Amino acid sequence: MPASSFEPDAFPDGWGHRHLLDLERHSTGEIRLLLDTAARFKEATAGCRRKLSVLTGRTVVNLFFENSTRTRTSFSLAARRLGADVVDFTASSSSLSKGESFIDTAKNLEAMGVDAVVVRHATPGTPHLLAQHLSVGVINAGDGPHEHPTQGLLDIFSIREHRGDLAGATVGLVGDIAHSRTARSNIWGLLKLGAKVILCGPPTLVSPRWREFGVEVSHDLDAIVPRCDVLNLLRIQFERQNTRPFPSVREYAHLYAMTRERLRRAKKDLLILAPGPINRGVEVTAEVADCPQSLILDQVTNGLAVRMGVLWLVCGAGAAAEPPRERIV
Ligand code: NCD
Repeated sequence: MPASSFEPDAFPDGWGHRHLLDLERHSTGEIRLLLDTAARFKEATAGCRRKLSVLTGRTVVNLFFENSTRTRTSFSLAARRLGADVVDFTASSSSLSKGESFIDTAKNLEAMGVDAVVVRHATPGTPHLLAQHLSVGVINAGDGPHEHPTQGLLDIFSIREHRGDLAGATVGLVGDIAHSRTARSNIWGLLKLGAKVILCGPPTLVSPRWREFGVEVSHDLDAIVPRCDVLNLLRIQFERQNTRPFPSVREYAHLYAMTRERLRRAKKDLLILAPGPINRGVEVTAEVADCPQSLILDQVTNGLAVRMGVLWLVCGAGAAAEPPRERIV
């Protein structure tokens, strides 16, 4: 796809949102559009390496209140690959430490003429709150245990690159479902694209209530491995847990780590995903993390494609004529 396809008149129909707050609220068509846009950017940037100038003159601010390596760097690089300026905001050295409210800080940044705010916060709903107060685009980069839409999209994008359609694929999400925003975004995205989703982990981390949303719940990894086309191995979110959900990490790894032995009982073309950071030996052994079926580093590259697409759609939607009110979220 030539770079000229990214001229403003190439802005796709079917995207009327100013923000990307979660995947739960988006339709199947919108999720496909987000993925297709990412694919166009991956191609036009020669695998996320070449620069385009579609967001020249725009400014993206990273507003991160939680630790991040991959996501923050990925958003910064994605914005720069499209020609935008990036401002990194660090909460500890800001006026928040002088008592300024979160909303006032964000409004001040908006008054400086930024076009999009990428926010990560430990409190669920923070991006949604910001979106109510700001007129610029807000992108959720992870709100506590709630959602992490670009992570869900890049996971699904990586599966789609290998399998084509998601419809009919069986995807196991293994680990700390209770505290994982990656799990939630994957669940909504995968279900909308027609995949079968199995949630697997100890009963303290995988509630049977999830069945109400149309997913299967299992506490036995050995039983589900042979049925899965994809396994997404989620990190235990110790930082979000008040009590230990299992007796020891060793016991958890014994029951739920993806190992070479388990891989032998899987389908030959099973795809292994993990959002990172990975804890080798806990949710996945080093051999499996580095095996040919592992997409872990592809996911990181694809994260750039997804974020380029999202930034372009969000900045473009903000610049376009005011969409009908009910379409603004
Ligand atoms: C995920 C996150 O922060 O929620 N990681 C990421 O965005 N790269 C998953 C995790 O921390 O386990």
